[in-house]
Amino acid sequence: MNDITARNIYVLNGPNLNLLGLREPEIYGHDTLDDIAGMLEDRALELGLTIDMRQTNHEGMLVDWLHEAQAEGARAVLLNAAAYTHTSIALLDAIKAIKTPVIEVHLSDPKTREDFRHISYVGMAAALTVEGHGADSYRIALEAVAAGKV
Ligand code: DQA
Repeated sequence: MNDITARNIYVLNGPNLNLLGLREPEIYGHDTLDDIAGMLEDRALELGLTIDMRQTNHEGMLVDWLHEAQAEGARAVLLNAAAYTHTSIALLDAIKAIKTPVIEVHLSDPKTREDFRHISYVGMAAALTVEGHGADSYRIALEAVAAGKV
């Protein structure tokens, strides 16, 4: 169920995001995933929320965590599925299968990059998409949850 009184937000990160900070910094910036987690934890505290930040390089793990978010009564999921965004019907189906709202998050703006990044299976089912603001995309998505936009 989508419980708007729930306080915990799952923040799920897909493949190669463990290398943030080192990986193509001209595109993704210099912040590491730990830096983003710290920034988000501070902002969540101010907003009366908590975050559960995770990263995996495995598609099925993201599917399992989406199911878990609903089972554990999370308020919402922020999902940066990275390259699986553009390939994964399994993630599209998982987002459709749960009532927990999912916000699609990207550091870069995939729509302005290579053609193969223009399709987003995640975006077909996500309640909202926040992209192109670097690490701030995560903060903007968190604030959208706090503001009741999803
Ligand atoms: C990304 C964009 C994707 O196209 C890419 O595969 C990523 C990161 C982003 O946050 O900008 O790995 O999701």
